[in-house]
Amino acid sequence: MSRRSDLGKLEAVLLDMDGTLVDSDASVERAWSTWAGENGVAAEAVLAVAHGNPSERTVRRFFPLLDDDAVALAVRRLTALQCDDLSDVVASPGAADLLTALDRLGLPWAVVTSAGTRLAKARLAAAGVEPPMLVTIDDVRHGKPDPEGYLRAAAALGVDPAACLVVEDSEPGLAAGTAAGMTTAALRGLSGDLRLNDLGHLAHLLRRARTTPWWRDAVGYQVYLPSFGDSTGDGWGDLAGVGEHLDHLTSLGVDVLWLTPFFRSPMRDHGYDIADYSAVDPLFGGEAALAGLLAEAHRRGLRVIGDLVVNHTSDDHPWFRAAASSAIDPYRDFYIWRDPAPDGGPPNNWLSHFGGPAWTFSAATGQYYLHLFRPEQPDLNWRNPVLVQQIDEVIEHWLARGLDGFRIDTAAYLVKDADLRDNPLLPADLLAPMAGVTMDWRRQDHRYDIHQPDVHTIHERWRRVADRHDAFLVGEVYELDPAALARFVDGERLHSSFWFGLVETNWDPEQIDTMLAAAVAASPRLSWVQGNHDRRRAATRYGGGETGRRRSLALHVLMALLPGTMWFYQGEELGLGDGHVPPGHGADPLGAAQPDQSRDVARTPMPWRPGPGLGFTTGRPWLPEGGRSAADTVAAQEADPASHLNALRGLMMTRRALADLLAATDEVTKVDLGAGVTAYRRGGLWAVANLRDTPVPAVDLPAPAVFDSDDAAVSPQRPKSGPVRLAPQQALLLMRPRLRWPVVRSCARRGGV
Ligand code: GLC
Repeated sequence: MSRRSDLGKLEAVLLDMDGTLVDSDASVERAWSTWAGENGVAAEAVLAVAHGNPSERTVRRFFPLLDDDAVALAVRRLTALQCDDLSDVVASPGAADLLTALDRLGLPWAVVTSAGTRLAKARLAAAGVEPPMLVTIDDVRHGKPDPEGYLRAAAALGVDPAACLVVEDSEPGLAAGTAAGMTTAALRGLSGDLRLNDLGHLAHLLRRARTTPWWRDAVGYQVYLPSFGDSTGDGWGDLAGVGEHLDHLTSLGVDVLWLTPFFRSPMRDHGYDIADYSAVDPLFGGEAALAGLLAEAHRRGLRVIGDLVVNHTSDDHPWFRAAASSAIDPYRDFYIWRDPAPDGGPPNNWLSHFGGPAWTFSAATGQYYLHLFRPEQPDLNWRNPVLVQQIDEVIEHWLARGLDGFRIDTAAYLVKDADLRDNPLLPADLLAPMAGVTMDWRRQDHRYDIHQPDVHTIHERWRRVADRHDAFLVGEVYELDPAALARFVDGERLHSSFWFGLVETNWDPEQIDTMLAAAVAASPRLSWVQGNHDRRRAATRYGGGETGRRRSLALHVLMALLPGTMWFYQGEELGLGDGHVPPGHGADPLGAAQPDQSRDVARTPMPWRPGPGLGFTTGRPWLPEGGRSAADTVAAQEADPASHLNALRGLMMTRRALADLLAATDEVTKVDLGAGVTAYRRGGLWAVANLRDTPVPAVDLPAPAVFDSDDAAVSPQRPKSGPVRLAPQQALLLMRPRLRWPVVRSCARRGGV
């Protein structure tokens, strides 16, 4: 299943029973072990082949000389053993969610199993599942891997086999699906057209395949490529390293992955200085690694967007080399050149984000060129139509290669004031409300160098290209006023834009409350973020330690309700605070100019497991490990039911279960539930949080809670009603009770859906 809409075209879902729809492993093992003991064969040998094969085939394999009657007797004995003990047979994780989704989507489904009818009925009944159609070994001549069972189900449903999805957890079953010409979805890490974590994952993908547009209410995850996963041991993250961790992302409910720039670059700004827009840097693994990652991600239903850095190139880009070589070079006008001021200094007072003037003198031609970042990052001239055309081609190239869109770097910077007027200075007691820049930069009113309205025309142009590919464009726009930001996503401009209100703030509940309300009111198309690779980590900005983590989680609960796209920055799901980078060990050009703004603290390696290299690398990481503890790692948090990671997974799985209700409306209103309570309502859902540091008086909840940041037992299946006294930073999702949840016996898991 290489791309996007394929799942949207399905007409039926055919599910294997044991191990797929029904969790019967223990029961199956017990029966086969007893049978093996009775027949003097090794239980392990039998168990190794029994799964996914009809019993008859397994019996014959061990006793090839038995005649048909004796085989039938053996199969009957085995069936009796299996039917006699169904004590722990339950529906598989996510089965309830899947069956609800199939029902809502009106997708027909059937169970196709190599078990006999009697056993299948007994087992499905024990799990509380009533399939509308059941095909067993009694209905076909052979069992799996023969395709006949699946073909028979398709014929009975009147559906073209090519429009069927087979869901399987065994090799023979997958082989049967493929032989039937169907699309396959594999569980247990097996390889199929789709690769599923569990049935809830499939429910989610099916619902999302029918969500238009696909990025609506999606969950995004930012991978800072140099620090996520290193597959080669050179200490530098790469694309294959990302591929090793995709299951981590799907288990968090992520729909779309943003990769920071992977293009060929001298890495003066770690990839944000591109020397060739059409090549993947060998340090990240080259073209093949990108193709491999896209295939693996798409197979899990994950979309992948790149990072379009076109405010500037690297000074190593052939365009700039040509432009700098002569004032009459055809590429000269790809960049912004000006004569020196009368005193020989820079043409105006604009400043680089990373310190010093935004102009560098080029002796070869006697003019200055503009760079809003490092001198090695010359700004492109977006008033040149030839350049505009070239970048269209870059976008086309990557979307055709399989990228699902772009995060647009410095999306509001591209076009500059045509007359390059000086920026006014701000009054002495005012500073531009932005981190990630030098103090000098913050003293100017950036009226002319950035955020010029002409930029919308460029975004509109890109939008037309993106829409042809069903791709998504999300802007990096540091416009904190939500109403002004909304103009970037109006009409046919960018699909979405990050709102950095929660990134540019330290913890101030009153202010957060006001800002958030304004952003919610401004547009249903914003992208909600708490952090990124350019700012200190959220848990640190929000106060650090356990309190910082709790505050971040409370905001995630609120974000989970909001229309638009919600994003995690890598490590945020672990509640990570800033990494520790000893003086002299940093790598950020901004850190060199303004040490207190160094971005290295957010860029230390992702801690996958305890030990040297943190599971990020087997070599020496390019940035220090950051002083992470064992408890910070993914491995430790996975094993701890009370961890930040598991709380967020619970939140995201609950959000998935509420997808239909989220889709029902984009309208969100702020609700007054009493002093100190921040609450929003979206149709039949509410998000409620106490952002203060003191408990609030008991609140009468307008609906039962289905997620509680302080109580892992609360879930859509186990809602909690009644008045609640919210502890500091406690946050809830509430859902108006629905009339019906499917009645399957499923295992109790956090957020079990
Ligand atoms: C964006 C990136 C940042 C980079 C800058 C220049 O703000 O997020 O990391 O340094 O653009 O490309």
